[in-house]
Amino acid sequence: MSGPELVRAVCPGSFDPITNGHLDIIGRAAGVFSEVIVAVGHNTTKNYLFDFAERIQLAADAVSDFDNVTVAPIQGLLVDFCEQQGAKVIVKGVRFGSDFDYELQMSQLNRQLSGIETVLLPAGREYGTVSSSMLREVSHNGADISAFVTDAVNRAVLAKLGKSAL
Ligand code: PNS
Repeated sequence: MSGPELVRAVCPGSFDPITNGHLDIIGRAAGVFSEVIVAVGHNTTKNYLFDFAERIQLAADAVSDFDNVTVAPIQGLLVDFCEQQGAKVIVKGVRFGSDFDYELQMSQLNRQLSGIETVLLPAGREYGTVSSSMLREVSHNGADISAFVTDAVNRAVLAKLGKSAL
């Protein structure tokens, strides 16, 4: 009998910026799969607060405590990235129904393009509905988002918005 198979997973996203909700999904994926690559990409339909290099840096800093998690940029298609990395599965978090509709569509397209499977993890209760876009919005309007992001991300958001810590 051979030993357990090593399965590399990719957790893709914009991560603008990475939140505790993302970290919950990444940590749980790291508990299930041998290796996890957090793949920071560019969605051409989105306007970003942080540029590509900043989003990668904040994500790399946030996952530095995990032994089996790395961060890499996606250049081009996600499915090509997965193939280059030898990853067999894409992992995404799902918070509510509209996430599911979007992820279903993306997973079917990605599977049709390359055969790759997607595993959807339900968001943890603590972070159920947190989104980067909402955190950017409330922080912009003066709210404290430190319960939802790492200290480094909180500082980066405040600096980007030209505000000081509350
Ligand atoms: O969930 P997000 O933030 O919209 O995901 C962004 C990202 C970068 C993961 C996604 O847009 C992506 O995979 N971009 C790479 C280009 C690609 O493969 N697009 C088709 C996905 S169906």
